[in-house]
Amino acid sequence: MFPTDTYVRRRNRLREGMGSGLVLLLGHDLSPMNCADNPYPFRQDSSFLYFFGLDDPSLAGVIDIDTGAEYLYGDDLTVEEIVWTGPQPALSEKAARVGVAQTGPAGDLEAVLSQAAAQGREIHFVPQYRPENVLKIQRLLGMPPEVVEERVSVPLIRAIVAQRSIKTAEEIEQIEVALTVAYAMQTTAMTMARPGVTEREVAGVMEGIAVSCGVRLSFPTIFSVNGQILHNPYHTNVMKDGDIVVNDSGAESYLHYASDITRTIPVSGTFSPKQREIYSIVFDAQEKAIAAVKPGVEFRDVHRLACTALAAGLKDLGLVKGDPAEAVQAGAHTLFFQCGLGHMMGLDTHDMEGLGEDFVGYTDAIRRNPEFGWRSLRLARALEPGFVVTVEPGIYFIPELIDRWRAEGKCEAFIDYEKVESYRDFGGIRLEDDVLVTAQGHHILGKPIPRTLDEVEALASE
Ligand code: GLY
Repeated sequence: MFPTDTYVRRRNRLREGMGSGLVLLLGHDLSPMNCADNPYPFRQDSSFLYFFGLDDPSLAGVIDIDTGAEYLYGDDLTVEEIVWTGPQPALSEKAARVGVAQTGPAGDLEAVLSQAAAQGREIHFVPQYRPENVLKIQRLLGMPPEVVEERVSVPLIRAIVAQRSIKTAEEIEQIEVALTVAYAMQTTAMTMARPGVTEREVAGVMEGIAVSCGVRLSFPTIFSVNGQILHNPYHTNVMKDGDIVVNDSGAESYLHYASDITRTIPVSGTFSPKQREIYSIVFDAQEKAIAAVKPGVEFRDVHRLACTALAAGLKDLGLVKGDPAEAVQAGAHTLFFQCGLGHMMGLDTHDMEGLGEDFVGYTDAIRRNPEFGWRSLRLARALEPGFVVTVEPGIYFIPELIDRWRAEGKCEAFIDYEKVESYRDFGGIRLEDDVLVTAQGHHILGKPIPRTLDEVEALASE
């Protein structure tokens, strides 16, 4: 846990940024996997963690914006529960650790909120992505589940996003911890990827590294020879000589800050000439994009820069025709790069997206572009010092997409479909790093993980 003062400061700032009423932040309950006593590993809600710091289930925090009073609601363990779980600090003790003076049993919360509502006071709450918390809001605030989403507090969302977007030094330290685990995961995977080894063996060892460090994965590992499937969750393939495997993985720190790294590994230890060419294009796009990261630059322009670099490289190979910038303007690059360049990262891998992706990545003036490819860009707005973003260009040959576009004659002026055909079984290549926006520009976080062609081949062939 951070020092008490961190949580006090965060809540004070939140209160100052809000008008009036009560802020209600729900923590998570344990979530049953197949029966009540066999839950999924507990993961606290990130905004609750950010402001109330406690990593225990079934808590709720209330901040009275008008009086400054703060409350934590939850239940102490009964002796019967302690028989199974062992003793836990009392709620009042936990609350004191995060600077909250007043506590009450979970059952009191409904009456407190009803009283405030009866007095005409506004109760601010954020979007709920867990069904049990939608039902909790329904019960606590007396509203049907289907209107919960409509009644969320936009001022609260905006105030939280404004604060959580800027990472402090102690948060960056946590991300560095998460990246230390990611370093071990990624470098181990590079040495383990071999012909005859199954993807799940490597994915399992990487997860084991995280667990043995006392942390968990920050998202389900993508480790696949089918790297063209952007979020491929399966690890069933046996790696073969000549395959390349995309390893998009990361771990959390002890305080749940994320790391999110992608490397592409040659299974036989060296890339083929064709793989080297595509790898070099992605590498060049990532270098250019990272170099462009600095305060004031809109991330959508960094995305466009990366797309243009990808199109230019593919033009050199004869897959793209015409002017690369015009090809990007026409959307031709999205045959090869169907997603966004990156996202915010912090307590969540896709930071704060439970609050609404547009609140995090867009503004009233910078709206989401609905075109294919562009609409998957999670972050478009201007960068500020303290943002942590991922920069993750890639080239993906998706046979179904190639067939569809070719049949439709889409972007024919910019794409040589005959040439593209010779890549239809190529798979995909992605490179991803986590980048801090600094006052001067940027800083790539974490101990450098082999990334150049030579570095990756050296480790992969060890
Ligand atoms: N690296 C996984 C993701 O961005 O979703």
